[in-house]
Amino acid sequence: MHSRAFLASLCVAFTLAASLSTNDFGNFEPPDIVERDIAIIGGGSAGTYSSISLKDKGKSIIVIEKKNRIGGHTETYIDPATGTPIDMGVVIFHNLTIVRDYFARFDVPLITSGSDVDPNAVSVTGTYDLRTSKEVNITSPSQTNVGAAFAKYAEFLAKYPRLNDGMFLPDPVPEDLLMPFGDFAKKYGIEDAVATMFNYNPGLGDILTVPMIENQRVWGQSLVQQLAGGFLTTKHHNNSELYSKAQAELLAAESLLLQSHVICSERSDGGVKLIVQTPAGRKLIKAKKLLITIPPRLDFLAPFNLSAHERSIFGKLIDAGYYTSILNNTGLPDDLSITNYRSDTAYNLPQLPGVYGIGSTPVPGLKLAYYGTPRSNSTYPLSDQQVKSEIVNAIKTLQKANPETFSAEEPQFVEYSSHTPFYLQARPGDTKAGFYREMYALQGERNTFWTGATWRAQDSSDIWRYTEEEVLPGLVKEL
Ligand SMILES: Cc1cc2nc3c(=O)[nH]c(=O)nc-3n(C[C@H](O)[C@H](O)[C@H](O)COP(=O)(O)OP(=O)(O)OC[C@H]3O[C@@H](n4cnc5c(N)ncnc54)[C@H](O)[C@@H]3O)c2cc1C
Ligand SMILES: *[C@@H]1O[C@H](CO)[C@@H](O)[C@H](O)[C@H]1NC(C)=O
Ligand SMILES: *[C@@H]1O[C@H](CO)[C@@H](O)[C@H](O)[C@H]1NC(C)=O
Ligand SMILES: *[C@@H]1O[C@H](CO)[C@@H](O)[C@H](O)[C@H]1NC(C)=O
Ligand SMILES: *[C@@H]1O[C@H](CO)[C@@H](O)[C@H](O)[C@H]1NC(C)=O
Ligand SMILES: *[C@@H]1O[C@H](CO)[C@@H](O)[C@H](O)[C@H]1NC(C)=O
Ligand SMILES: *[C@@H]1O[C@H](CO)[C@@H](O)[C@H](O)[C@H]1NC(C)=O
Repeated sequence: MHSRAFLASLCVAFTLAASLSTNDFGNFEPPDIVERDIAIIGGGSAGTYSSISLKDKGKSIIVIEKKNRIGGHTETYIDPATGTPIDMGVVIFHNLTIVRDYFARFDVPLITSGSDVDPNAVSVTGTYDLRTSKEVNITSPSQTNVGAAFAKYAEFLAKYPRLNDGMFLPDPVPEDLLMPFGDFAKKYGIEDAVATMFNYNPGLGDILTVPMIENQRVWGQSLVQQLAGGFLTTKHHNNSELYSKAQAELLAAESLLLQSHVICSERSDGGVKLIVQTPAGRKLIKAKKLLITIPPRLDFLAPFNLSAHERSIFGKLIDAGYYTSILNNTGLPDDLSITNYRSDTAYNLPQLPGVYGIGSTPVPGLKLAYYGTPRSNSTYPLSDQQVKSEIVNAIKTLQKANPETFSAEEPQFVEYSSHTPFYLQARPGDTKAGFYREMYALQGERNTFWTGATWRAQDSSDIWRYTEEEVLPGLVKEL
């Protein structure tokens, strides 16, 4: 009784702090009350997929997205001069029926990634140590050896088929799944796959110390299988096309609130009530079910009145920092991409925090730069200003150290995006103690369901599969 009264007044206090118009759950007029089967928090990869799938199943929904667009980590820069799109966030998808059907529903054509590259177009990858800006000579394993390493790795994964569907770990959790990935690679003789895994799974933090199970989230059976047939990307190299079409459809169906966020909520066995701040004032949303797709960090979940049990679970998650940007006037040749390597580390891996690499784009003069930090307990303490100056420093040092190849120019950001906190994950001790089993047991409690990268992987195709096969059936059954 006491705690209920306390928390209810907390909600009103929250509301008062944000504006002077007092609101509590009983204080809304009918035009400001929205009733739906499901309220979905976040309109990124997981939230958008969920909304469309539930809509197609005949359910009424409302998506609450804090930004003025949906799409989340899928970001496409459109060069104003030429109209050329550059996917600076999510690029590739798995060639699976669920993926092809989803894109086909919005009439967005897919191709095999790389299949439209002009074979005569010259593009070069340089390997530099971006601390010193000296070129580093790398001896990469042959394609045959890389293939053989992935085949061995696939054999290991085949022992745990449920890992292809989510973090469904055997109990007790085998030590092989908990050991640092660097040790795992040695134990199973798959060293020749490490560099490829690192390059395709940035934002993970340090691949050699991360528990095997966390690298495996992205590098699971499904992604490994794609190595044979090729990844998919959109034909127009404009992955935001799917999201702008979905956004138009959701807005037309009054199923999306942009630039909106939940102020407070009541989640009980009877259903869910949310007070939502929207550009058109406060709304009360009444839903039978809540589907939370945002990163489940305690600070982000504050408006959802977490129970002590929920807090103790999500409070254990750690994350890594991941940043992307597009720059102009870098002084680097248009056809050159640069990978950050070291001559003195295992697998020549770069030191984090640091620049992963600088990629070329189809727009002359524009470069993509990717930056990452190691995993840390409370989000790596690095401001956007620091990340930007580190990127610019790396480029200017490259210019100075290689005056014959790069010209001295003043790099400028034309776009910058922080994807932090990224790759939320458990520490190995917590995983061993049953962290993921407890986290998944929250599905459906207090009419709340969960999906998104933390529940599956930093991989859209896997998120869509997990959402469709593991989350939505249980949710829909209870409606
Ligand atoms: C640079 C980069 C490249 C990537 N490349 C690939 C790739 O090639 N292929 C691939 O499959 N995956 C890739 N990923 C992984 C990508 O993160 C996942 O594919 C997927 O986007 C994760 O989906 P999500 O729904 O969990 O999170 P997001 O897509 O980030 O969606 C979360 C959404 O919630 C919103 N939100 C956050 N807080 C709130 C709040 N309080 N209230 C309301 N809304 C809120 C956000 O604005 C966002 O729209 C990449 C990621 C990055 C950063
Ligand atoms: C994807 O897989 C399907 C079925 O195996 C195949 O027909 C198709 O050519 C592949 N590639 C693309 C771009 O769809
Ligand atoms: C890299 O290797 C090439 C060819 O073997 C050699 O000419 C060059 O000097 C080497 N560069 C460095 C930095 O070791
Ligand atoms: C890319 O997609 C966006 C969003 O749908 C759209 O506005 C833009 O016109 C597209 N551009 C190209 C070149 O495909
Ligand atoms: C907050 O959650 C607790 C359970 O942890 C519940 O008893 C209380 O009623 C909730 N308050 C609101 C406003 O939903
Ligand atoms: C890049 O810089 C050049 C030269 O300074 C300028 O003409 C061009 O408009 C810039 N492009 C963008 C996208 O900012
Ligand atoms: C986080 O905290 C734990 C214990 O509090 C510590 O052992 C660990 O090294 C820290 N860092 C990471 C990245 O987990």
